[in-house]
Amino acid sequence: MSPIPAHMKALVLRHDGYSGIAEGPSIASLSDWCALLEVPVPQPKGREVLVKVGLANVNPSDLHYIKGEYGQPRRKGVAAGFEGMGEVVAAGDDEAARALVGQRVAVSVARGGSGVWAQYALTDARAVVPLDPKLSDADAAALIVNPMTAHAMLHLVKDAGAKAFVMTAGASQLGKLMATLAPQMGLASVATVRREEHRSLLEGLGVGTVVNTGREDFEDMLVMAMRQVQPTVLLDAVADRYSAEIFAAMPAGARWVIYGKLSAEAPKLPSLGQMVFMKKQIEGFWLTEWMARATPATRQEAFAAVQDRFISGAWKTDVAATLSLEEAEEGLAEALSGLNRGKVLIRP
Ligand SMILES: NC(=O)c1ccc[n+]([C@@H]2O[C@H](COP(=O)([O-])OP(=O)(O)OC[C@H]3O[C@@H](n4cnc5c(N)ncnc54)[C@H](OP(=O)(O)O)[C@@H]3O)[C@@H](O)[C@H]2O)c1
Repeated sequence: MSPIPAHMKALVLRHDGYSGIAEGPSIASLSDWCALLEVPVPQPKGREVLVKVGLANVNPSDLHYIKGEYGQPRRKGVAAGFEGMGEVVAAGDDEAARALVGQRVAVSVARGGSGVWAQYALTDARAVVPLDPKLSDADAAALIVNPMTAHAMLHLVKDAGAKAFVMTAGASQLGKLMATLAPQMGLASVATVRREEHRSLLEGLGVGTVVNTGREDFEDMLVMAMRQVQPTVLLDAVADRYSAEIFAAMPAGARWVIYGKLSAEAPKLPSLGQMVFMKKQIEGFWLTEWMARATPATRQEAFAAVQDRFISGAWKTDVAATLSLEEAEEGLAEALSGLNRGKVLIRP
């Protein structure tokens, strides 16, 4: 193992706390929110581990966070980036943390840690997952946030006794994971997209009904899909006027589970009487909270299941671009724009 330097390159946050805005996860330029600087390599203490980052992911949650509109406050001067993979190169004095030194791991940065858009990241030992050597670096860099959410949310659908569900932003990486997992769990799905180009992709992955919110016949197609498929859970990453329309068209007892806010729009809820007379419910899902509530055995089982799915080829991480830290500072906004073809990764 090569010696750990005193300093590293990192894309660090320019701002502190919350911004009070809710614009959604799009950026005009990364340099509005992060600066590429030379900063001290963080020192692990107690149960913390230091990870030499191999590959980092860029998720919508990272963009919400750097803009100050995520569920935890920004820390100015600290590296951004919640998810990636690498090798544990140092640990605090906790025995379980020390046992991880030398292991190739998937990382999710715990509150109080230092992000993965950097050459080294700091996190809690419980927030790293030792990797099967058969897992590729790209799959490892995107192993936790979306795969664990797909796993947890489809179990939520199953536990709710639903036979079918609707997912918005169907062509997102998370949507594609749920599309292939659903049939194996005996669940039918309806997916929404906003571009016709995404239809055949989702049908190819096994989604029975794809509805395009951008088409003039959206309302007719929605009514037909609800009648035919009778989905009782809406897994919603967008939370805009179309989500409200879908929820209103769903059968009695339907649950609207909001887990993302890709749209900045505040939807009107014209059918609130349905909460009373049709026993409908609106709720949220956050993986951070699910992980905190799950027993260690449930978490282990889920981590093993998601790794197995990538190794068997049932899931794969589509990668649109891989950028260095310097290229990300200049070109991340452009790499994220246009038709979504997969994840943008950063190789520090
Ligand atoms: N709550 C949690 O714990 C949790 C965990 C994981 C992920 N998430 C959320 O899950 C969502 C998907 O994440 P991901 O990593 O899979 O995303 P992703 O691969 O980056 O894909 C984003 C997709 O959203 C679509 N989209 C963007 N803005 C939209 C809008 N205003 N209306 C409709 N569609 C829009 C894009 O469609 P186009 O191709 O048409 O642009 C794209 O297909 C995000 O909201 C993320 O925050 C939440």
